[in-house]
Amino acid sequence: MSTYKHWKVITDSEGVVWLHLDKADSSTNVLSHAVMDELEEELNSLNKKPPRAVVFLSDKKNGFIAGADVKEFSQLETEHIALTLIKRGQHVMNMIERLPCPTVALIHGFCLGGGFELALACRYRIADNDAKTKIGLPEIKLGIHPGFGGAVRSIKLAGPIAAMNIILTGRAISARAAKKLGLIHYAVPARHLITAAKSVIKKSPPKHKLVWWAKLANHKLVRPWVKKLLVKQVSKKAQRSHYPAPYAMIDLWERYADDYQRFLEEEAISVSQLMVTKTAQNLVRVFSLQEQMKSFSKLKDYKPRHIHVIGGGVMGGDIAIWFALQGYNVTIQDREQKTLAAVIKRAYKLYKRKLKKRLLIIEALDRLVPDIKGFGLKQADVVIEAIFEDAEVKRQLFKEIEPQIKDSCIIATNTSSIPLEELAPALHDATRLVGLHFFNPVAQMPLVEIVRGKQTSKTTMQQAAAITKSIRRLPLPVSSSPGFLVNRILMPYLMEAVVLAEEGIPLKAIDQAATDFGMPMGPIELADTVGLDICLKVAENLSENMEIGVPERLRKLVNKKQLGKKTGKGFYTFKKGKPVKPAIPKDFNLPTDLPDRLILRLVNEAVACLRDGVVESTDMIDAGVIFGTGFAPFKGGPMCYAHNRGIEQLIKLLESLDSRYGSRFKADSGWSSLFET
Ligand code: NAI
Repeated sequence: MSTYKHWKVITDSEGVVWLHLDKADSSTNVLSHAVMDELEEELNSLNKKPPRAVVFLSDKKNGFIAGADVKEFSQLETEHIALTLIKRGQHVMNMIERLPCPTVALIHGFCLGGGFELALACRYRIADNDAKTKIGLPEIKLGIHPGFGGAVRSIKLAGPIAAMNIILTGRAISARAAKKLGLIHYAVPARHLITAAKSVIKKSPPKHKLVWWAKLANHKLVRPWVKKLLVKQVSKKAQRSHYPAPYAMIDLWERYADDYQRFLEEEAISVSQLMVTKTAQNLVRVFSLQEQMKSFSKLKDYKPRHIHVIGGGVMGGDIAIWFALQGYNVTIQDREQKTLAAVIKRAYKLYKRKLKKRLLIIEALDRLVPDIKGFGLKQADVVIEAIFEDAEVKRQLFKEIEPQIKDSCIIATNTSSIPLEELAPALHDATRLVGLHFFNPVAQMPLVEIVRGKQTSKTTMQQAAAITKSIRRLPLPVSSSPGFLVNRILMPYLMEAVVLAEEGIPLKAIDQAATDFGMPMGPIELADTVGLDICLKVAENLSENMEIGVPERLRKLVNKKQLGKKTGKGFYTFKKGKPVKPAIPKDFNLPTDLPDRLILRLVNEAVACLRDGVVESTDMIDAGVIFGTGFAPFKGGPMCYAHNRGIEQLIKLLESLDSRYGSRFKADSGWSSLFET
């Protein structure tokens, strides 16, 4: 047996070399420089004296290899440096591919990006068929595409349509799905992995053969048609100017699919060009912000089991449903039986879509117990309150429940606007009161604001962050100030959109300005989707503390009960859940300052939040706004955008908007501090 720092090499009695990866000082295997150095050294010696076979496997519990080391991406300053890194990666993968003996990748858990590219370079791939196995090429989410030969090899194995579906979406698939596509050879239970590897080495089963139609899609006469189809699909989700990587990937395949070697070389060149774009750099930063948020909770031993949710309306119902889906035992309490029945109905719909298998759906539904009398309070580790947005009603509830819960139980409120200090007096022990501010719809919004009241203890904050992370949501600690972070920043932007509408700008033009900027949805459509009554309520609450300006048109629509999507009519009329957007008149001239009027109100408020210390850093402003509002991730968040556009220039722009449209555009005093960062 020989040992490196990260790899362990064991040769068994049959002459098979087992290469175990266990990256030192890390909970997850990634292909860092050092890991690749050692691998190259070992491959060199294996090449000189080929063994019976080589098996790659991981000693980490959570998976095989999660990808390349994303931290190293941020050090790539020039295209040349990026190309050197990529070529080196390709070289190591090619060495694996060319070893003159069978090679096997034994996969469990995460097998993503560079990790899957390594597996693809092996002759055989066998994966654990457990639900935790996730196989994929998620590079597109970082603004690049696979570069270690993964694009070329996956297309060769699964055909362009299936492989592109994985590459262009970045989604991870199960072992069974990967087997169906021909990306792996066998999906077996974990206990059979080693036996399966030995059997494959002994029997050398034939390689997977592509079906004729998958081969046909690769033919040079068919490729232009397939390309058109792929571009059409991609353009529905991402503009080329915002996200060039998927388009680059499609172009690459269309041009070089006939020449394996050239395709590999061009794959490397294309990735290194993408790696140094602002889009990729910003997306890599967003990835690391996400990791930063996940690391907020340091509590490893905190394992709550029972969650009791009070209030089964829009939010409480969905929160309870989500917790049960993630494996928690949940009791859900409401004043009305029919509300609870509706929650179970909603749960069934979501679980059917997410879990698919009958047994799993039944198990999840069993974990979600309607509890009109509140029996669950006694055993709850966490109580989440999501009743009406009324401080007195919430205080009354806290007084009633505190004597019934365990001393260790924390109380979380989902309030979207009431400062925790107003609720704390109702409790004997207010150190356990925290805000867990979920966003609507819970199943789709990745962010949860963890609201720290003046009395909230550090442990309660940590526990709230740990719970949030455990349900696959991103915790963002914020101070208990009006609107917290996300609503405070979002509202001025939404209100400006309504002002623009009042000025007679076509609604579609307002929305288009925002989506052209990179927002996932325009502000008018967003307001209709959130509900105009909710927008009005939040805006009115905020206007007590800041100059937000609540437009008359919003009030009028709410008075007429035109509340948006939920009533079928708001700014837009909705048909089958989709807004019908009247066309922009042909002779309409779009004001050139329209995008700035929208975006700068948002950015100016972000600066104010930083000055007020709502979150602890500029990074967390960007993270909160990206994950809470969908702010163009490729622009790196509002603060990153401000720095890229130039602080001085933006202050001047705000001054000019202030003189033309009023003091709501007054540059916040916090801008001056940005010159130093
Ligand atoms: P909702 O009106 O849909 O639901 C409230 C539910 O609480 C109702 O089913 C009601 O029967 C129940 N309830 C009221 N008092 C109760 C009591 N004493 N005991 C048991 N059940 C009681 O309200 P929604 O929209 O779900 O909001 C709930 C909370 O979440 C509010 O604090 C709101 O500010 C906050 N929130 C709302 C968001 C939204 O988009 N709707 C987003 C984020 C937070």
